[in-house]
Amino acid sequence: MPSSNPSSRSRNASPMRPSYANFKPSDLSVADDLHPVIHAGRVALITGAASGIGRAAAIEFAKLGLKVAIADVNEAQLKEVGKALAEIIGEANVLVVPTDVSKLEEVVRLKERVYEQWGEVGVLMNNAGIGDKGTSWDGLDNWHKVFNVNLFGVVNVQQTFVRSMLHQENPSMVINTGSKQGITNPPGNAAYNASKAAVKSLTEGLAYELRERPESNVTAHLFIPGWTFTGMTGGSTLSSKPPGAWSAEETVLYMLDKVRQGDFYVLVPDNETKREVDQLRIMWAAADVAEGRPALSRWHANWKSLFEEYMKEGLAQLE
Ligand SMILES: NC(=O)c1ccc[n+]([C@@H]2O[C@H](COP(=O)([O-])OP(=O)(O)OC[C@H]3O[C@@H](n4cnc5c(N)ncnc54)[C@H](O)[C@@H]3O)[C@@H](O)[C@H]2O)c1
Repeated sequence: MPSSNPSSRSRNASPMRPSYANFKPSDLSVADDLHPVIHAGRVALITGAASGIGRAAAIEFAKLGLKVAIADVNEAQLKEVGKALAEIIGEANVLVVPTDVSKLEEVVRLKERVYEQWGEVGVLMNNAGIGDKGTSWDGLDNWHKVFNVNLFGVVNVQQTFVRSMLHQENPSMVINTGSKQGITNPPGNAAYNASKAAVKSLTEGLAYELRERPESNVTAHLFIPGWTFTGMTGGSTLSSKPPGAWSAEETVLYMLDKVRQGDFYVLVPDNETKREVDQLRIMWAAADVAEGRPALSRWHANWKSLFEEYMKEGLAQLE
């Protein structure tokens, strides 16, 4: 199952070699074999579950027979999701806890509710997020808001839950929702990008700390959605999904497949950006640092054409 042993993966000189066959949305499937965490009877807790990806995840977990606890600041919408979940797995297996993840006392209350009700958490999905804009010298209030939710929301939940999860007899997992923007840092919203870069760093640290701990049976996963059609990406104004985006359901099903396989980095494609494109963009961003190029050279007038050439050649090699 988990592929943490490097020798279990085939070796190749190129770090950009695709690690598995191309994935097409039409292949989407979640195997129904028994996974130690993602299976009927276990508990999934999802933050930011009132809409978008979090809502879709709650529904998929419910379909798989997990008990589902959902948390969000949007109480009215959260209750609606609770009703939809109850229709799938029954009211007794649904816990609706309005929670602002940026407030530690609310997260502590959330934990008490879940453990009182079910005594465990199998899947802890830190998904609540906001995209309010903050550029380098503007929008200071938004910087605070974005960090309080996107970073400290995750920190609050980890600090409150992980110790108890470590004491559980059964294995469990933490899935933190990052973003490609936290890896390649496209210009436009420095606050969001920085918060998601911090989530990447935090989750990598968590994965290391968990695997180094003797007898730990908790794993960590960094979920990196592609362009997904949700409220955050125009869902409230556009009437239908743009062709380039994936639906929240597609993104969640892909994530579940990869997490089941034990992947730490769950880099999700969409209809516009295939995996190879992401791989090359990520390698280019890392090479800015390694090769001493200007910051964000991908968007630098003098480097643009070299970047385009690199992408063209890279794709020709990878495909
Ligand atoms: N949609 C995309 O293309 C995309 C891409 C990369 C990453 N993401 C990430 O995926 C996650 C889910 O986003 P989405 O696209 O489904 O957007 P969304 O706006 O539909 O969902 C986010 C949810 O988080 C909730 N939330 C906001 N602040 C909260 C708080 N303080 N406490 C609890 N809940 C709070 C919102 O009410 C909302 O229901 C976010 O972390 C986002 O950054 C989304």
